[in-house]
Amino acid sequence: MSLSPIDKFIEGMPKAELHLHIEGTFEPEMMFQIAKRNGRILPYRSVEDLKDAYRFNNLQEFLNIYYTGAELLIEELDFYELTYAYLERVHAQNVVHVEVFFDPQTHTDRGVSFDTVIKGIHRALEDGQQKLGITFKMIMCFLRHLPEESAFKTLEQALPYKHWIAGVGLDSSELGNPPSKFKNVFEKARQEGFLALAHAGEEGPAEYIWEALDLLHVVRIDHGNRCLDDQKLVKELAKRKIPLTLCPLSNVALKVVKDLSQYPIIEMTRRGLLITVNSDDPAYFGGYLNENFFALAKALFLSKTDLARLAKNSFQASFLEESEKKKWIAKVEEYYSANNS
Ligand code: HPA
Ligand code: ZN
Repeated sequence: MSLSPIDKFIEGMPKAELHLHIEGTFEPEMMFQIAKRNGRILPYRSVEDLKDAYRFNNLQEFLNIYYTGAELLIEELDFYELTYAYLERVHAQNVVHVEVFFDPQTHTDRGVSFDTVIKGIHRALEDGQQKLGITFKMIMCFLRHLPEESAFKTLEQALPYKHWIAGVGLDSSELGNPPSKFKNVFEKARQEGFLALAHAGEEGPAEYIWEALDLLHVVRIDHGNRCLDDQKLVKELAKRKIPLTLCPLSNVALKVVKDLSQYPIIEMTRRGLLITVNSDDPAYFGGYLNENFFALAKALFLSKTDLARLAKNSFQASFLEESEKKKWIAKVEEYYSANNS
């Protein structure tokens, strides 16, 4: 299939991805391969059968399948291959920097050691940096459906690897699990030098975004769609320059939004919010970073100027050093000037 001129522009543009669950990059083909190697049997006859199950009405329906898939990952090699396959895919999409979430509790709760998980992912990220030139940060997420005590235990396990982990995040079932539940563990994590992030306002109310800001002291909000319900909150996010990492195809797949023609990026930008485009769980939601950009550009008739702004935002909102941010923003501008005909 040949790409439209705007899709070609998207494809060639340097970009960063800031909201990506590594377990959400587990493609069905790889699930079958790894299951076989580990002597496991998937409850699906074929890749097609499995893909047929990828129809979700909400976040929880997705999470049930996502955790079932993640449970096939057992050995360090599994985590390595999963991560490296993601890097190869996005390398072909001109993604030059990634900030990768991982969910240790999904694995440690079933007997896979923290060391196995982090070593496999980290080694692949190091190799990706060397061989593909993709820089990276790792972000460890706590599962919010579990007690805070379990998050404390995970934080303890992470301390020997502190130098590998840039920040801590909060994911999984949002409704009924507000950020306030994790106030103490985030405080400890921040004392240890981790940056704080949280999924908030995906399905949960604007109030959860306030809690993430005021109780967890987050520097970035993942999703954050529901901030638009609260004008004071939008102003506060803009004032504090807290970026939102939006995930268009995820939001459609999980029915957070009806369709992309209503996607609020124009309104958010107009109100001074720093927003970025991301893929969340690309193996489940129909596309990696470029497919998210393609879908958004088509639905909202985005111009090259809009798209270059989104790419620049991805570096601005990243945890890269200021000099690296400047370098990549200048490269996007250069690319825009050379291709804006
Ligand atoms: N929301 C919450 N938890 C998650 C998600 C998400 O979109 N993806 C993987 N874990
Ligand atoms: Zn997410």
